[in-house]
Amino acid sequence: PSAQDPWRPAVHLTAERNWINDPNGLVYENGTYHAFYQHNPHGNFWGNMSWGHSTSTDLIHWTQQPVAMEASEAEEIFSGAIVLDKENASGLGTAGNPPMVALYTSAYGKGGARPAGVQAQSLAYSLDHGKTWQKYKGNPVLDLAPSNNNFRDPKVTWYEPGGYWVMTTVVADAQVVKLFKSTDLLHWDHLSDFSGVGAQGGLWEVPELLQMDVAGGNGLKKWVMLLSINPGGIAGGSGMQYFVGDFDGRTFTAENAAKPGAPLTDSQWLDYGADYYAANSISGAPGGKPVLLGWMGNWDYAQDVPTTPWRGAMAVPRELELLRDGGRYALRSGIAAAASGALGEAAGGEVRRRNLTVDGGAEPLGGDFTARSQLLDVELEPGEAAETGLVLRSSADGSSGLRVSYERATGTLKVDRSRAGTGNFSRLFSPYHQAKVPLRDGKLRLRILLDSSSVEVFTPDSTVAITDTFFPAWDDTETLAFSRGGAAEVRVSSAAP
Ligand code: FRU
Repeated sequence: PSAQDPWRPAVHLTAERNWINDPNGLVYENGTYHAFYQHNPHGNFWGNMSWGHSTSTDLIHWTQQPVAMEASEAEEIFSGAIVLDKENASGLGTAGNPPMVALYTSAYGKGGARPAGVQAQSLAYSLDHGKTWQKYKGNPVLDLAPSNNNFRDPKVTWYEPGGYWVMTTVVADAQVVKLFKSTDLLHWDHLSDFSGVGAQGGLWEVPELLQMDVAGGNGLKKWVMLLSINPGGIAGGSGMQYFVGDFDGRTFTAENAAKPGAPLTDSQWLDYGADYYAANSISGAPGGKPVLLGWMGNWDYAQDVPTTPWRGAMAVPRELELLRDGGRYALRSGIAAAASGALGEAAGGEVRRRNLTVDGGAEPLGGDFTARSQLLDVELEPGEAAETGLVLRSSADGSSGLRVSYERATGTLKVDRSRAGTGNFSRLFSPYHQAKVPLRDGKLRLRILLDSSSVEVFTPDSTVAITDTFFPAWDDTETLAFSRGGAAEVRVSSAAP
């Protein structure tokens, strides 16, 4: 970040220039993480959708690579997935050099293989570890007969008990997830549909079916469906809900899912902020827990955010745990263990005051903000205070800044960006976001990752995460602790990696 580019993230993935949205084709191979993503190589707005490409060995420092697949007039390259075809089941590589296989959505234009407007699933492969890509000559590999304008977002996972790949896709405007199977990645057979539960919203996008261990469940496994919806998310506009249940090789059945039309708080949300969307897991990532990369954006205003020459960033890589929580299963998000070493070194910003009592008003914590990102461990003990928390990227007097706080009367964790810099670029840039969180022994633990134009708040003891972008003034670099309506204890430290 520089005064000329004040909102450039220090520890999050962006393109050097131009627009990005969804992460695509996330895959780990031989020590390298590959992130492909929806990218406009020619402008700082959505269009010319292509797959950009960046690589990393630590999930924090990314090296931009040449555009992997570029849009043409005939075909834009929408979201999709990559798997390593280790056995060369597709026959597109050799036994000695098996291919990386991408399934992506062809969004056809003039002169495409299908009429303009139609979407279908296509395949591309790489024989050089993701550097260059060739489109399969039989594309598209999967149409929705007779044709469909909103059939997209394939994500592929290996289904061990059946010995086949399962692909999830959506018919976005019908709010349906469609499941298919294949043994060669080329031919796909319909398995089942998943629909009619949870928040319906406008579009259903970027689904993923994951098998996960239940934490403390003695080997018990469940299946989880991640689903992005837009609009209709919990924080307005784009958001991610999920379902937990079982998959028998054919049908995914959700347990305890909210009914359509129920209050949004009945559904399960991966994140309660406004800027976490289209997250999907890194295929083959080591470590046993799903590692997700998500887009830190919201279709309500993503095209209006005041950054240049880039627009759009990825959230910090997260790992998911599946817990039993109040009678149902729930996902807890945290920063991916594989990212935390590099993050701990890169995110600077030591704070000086560690423990303090604030009794109304705000107290500076001091510290160094030259790295323009901070990873903080916070413990709030609200006591009798009506509200307590931190002001991040604050002016010296606390009048401007981003507020992360706990409100006692409602039992909620709240992120308020309404006085945190530039926000007038869109009337849909919502002011604050919140979720109910339990206190434990009267305390709330938070892990906060602050970057130049984003905040990610994790709760290590609950299943709430809140991710928001914001666009603070360059000179607002203070960190304050505050309370209202009573005294509170605030303990802050730079998080240990
Ligand atoms: C989600 C999405 C996908 C689509 C892509 C287009 O953000 O709308 O459904 O494939 O973005 O860029």
